[in-house]
Amino acid sequence: MTYRIGYFVGSLSSTSINRVLSRALIGLAPPSLEFSEIAIRDLPLYSADHDQDYPPVARALKEAIESSDGILFVSPEYNRSIPGALKNAIDWGSRPWGTNSFARKPTGIVGASIGAIGTAVMQSSMRSVLSFLNAPQLNAPEVYLTFRPEHYGDDGTVHDESTADFLRHYMEEYAAFVERVLSVTAPGHI
Ligand code: FNR
Repeated sequence: MTYRIGYFVGSLSSTSINRVLSRALIGLAPPSLEFSEIAIRDLPLYSADHDQDYPPVARALKEAIESSDGILFVSPEYNRSIPGALKNAIDWGSRPWGTNSFARKPTGIVGASIGAIGTAVMQSSMRSVLSFLNAPQLNAPEVYLTFRPEHYGDDGTVHDESTADFLRHYMEEYAAFVERVLSVTAPGHI
C-alpha cells in the first residue's frame, strides 16, 4: 500500500535549513510513502472576507490537503511559535467554517533550528492548533533538531550516521502511524 503525504515547509527562506531537512526526511522515508509539497508562498493573508469565494490558490491548497493520506510539517520556530506564513496556510486550510481540510488527517511535526531547543516551542504550539483542527498527531518519537550544516548534502543526503538513523526511525514510525490512523478512519469504520 502506498500513502500520499503532503508536506509543508514552514519557511520561505531561499536558504532554509528546514527545506534541507525535508529533503533528508523524504530520502530516508520508507518506500510506502509518496511525497508532494503543499506550497504556502503564494497564499494571500487569510481573511473571512474570502470565505464566500476562495481564491484559486487557496482552493488548490485545500484540495492538496484533502487528497493527501497524511500531512507532514517541517518548520522552523519563529519567536517561540509557528512562522506566520505557515500559520496563515493552516488558517486557509481550516476554513470556511465546516470545511476544515485537516480533520482526521494523520500529521507529523518536525523542525530544525540553529538554537539548542530545536523548535520544541513551535511544535508545542502546532499541537494545540492541530488538536483544535481534529488532526491526529504522531506523539513519539519527536524530532527537535539543532541543525548542523556539515551533516547534510544539498540533495538531502545525510552524512552523519546517527542523524540518518534518527530521522529514518522517525519516518518509519510516521508511516506506521499514518497506516494506523487510516485503518480506523477509513469509510466503514466511522
Ligand atoms: C528565528 N530563529 C529562531 N530559532 C529558534 O530556535 N527559536 C526561535 O524562536 C527563533 N526565532 C526566530 C525568529 C525569526 C523571525 C527568525 C528569522 C529566526 C532562528 C532560526 O532557527 C533560524 O533562522 C533558522 O535557520 C530558521 O529556519 P529556516 O528558515 O532556515 O528553515
